[in-house]
Amino acid sequence: MLVRVLGSAAGGGVPQWNCGCPCCRAVREGSRPCLPRTQSSIAISADHEQWFLVNASPDVRAQLEASPALLPAAGRATPLQGVLLTDAELDHALGLLLLREAESLELHATAAVHETLRTDNSLLATLQAYCPVKWREVVPGEDVALGNGLSYRAFDVPTTKRSRFGPDRGPGRVVGYRFTDERSGRAAVCLSGVQEITGQVREQLRDCTGLFIDGTCFSDDEMPRLGLASKTSREMGHLPMSGPGGSLEQLAELPIERKIYVHLNNTNPVLLDDSPERREVERLGFEIATDGTEVQIRP
Ligand code: MLT
Ligand code: MN
Ligand code: ZN
Repeated sequence: MLVRVLGSAAGGGVPQWNCGCPCCRAVREGSRPCLPRTQSSIAISADHEQWFLVNASPDVRAQLEASPALLPAAGRATPLQGVLLTDAELDHALGLLLLREAESLELHATAAVHETLRTDNSLLATLQAYCPVKWREVVPGEDVALGNGLSYRAFDVPTTKRSRFGPDRGPGRVVGYRFTDERSGRAAVCLSGVQEITGQVREQLRDCTGLFIDGTCFSDDEMPRLGLASKTSREMGHLPMSGPGGSLEQLAELPIERKIYVHLNNTNPVLLDDSPERREVERLGFEIATDGTEVQIRP
């Protein structure tokens, strides 16, 4: 099973168009080592032939062009078979509109996410004006075979974050995905948005080989401290890396071969290759994804 991080940044990317934070400035000025990054999306395949995306970012076109394995060999025979959504956030779903040239799109989403896209932000209606959308309902806890030896099981990731669009539709508003290579039995978990690692969420991480985990903020007060927003990381729905109860503390001891932070907000100091925060994260056995990070999960 091959997992490719197409975009390793949170919404807005790195740099973000209206941001002059230290990381965004470092990228623009070249003043400190900091790679540009596009918005969060992960591609996964069990056979290197058929691929699925977890979230379709606003940067999807450039991300696919930078990924030879996801490009058509001839005609319109795209290796991209479908898109799975973790939630209905605009920076996770807007890329669906940029895939509108597809003959049809297979969209895996929970009923809550589908309903949001269908009614609250009319993204689906717009997309369906261009191409047929085949909705495959994602039911947390249900195993789904994607074909070619890849299957997934979604799991609910509870959040108290206020719903951006329409009412809070409850369970299934945010999910994580546990992918299994049916030939090897090895698993990779995509948890790019998590506010709290509940017992049930933690259970999904058991015996997985690769974990792609929410790295939005290094500290809970990152945004307020930079004077860029009033909400803490947790209030934005993202468990911070550091501090009491942070993901570093909770996951450092888990025997997972590859623990890779994704969905990195442009304010996160771990983006700076020479920062003490980056050294701390790596000392604890975690990795910081870049665009193009690939993990081969071998049998
Ligand atoms: C999130 O991951 O919290 C959202 O994508 C925030 C945003 O809109 O960028
Ligand atoms: Mn996001
Ligand atoms: Zn910034």
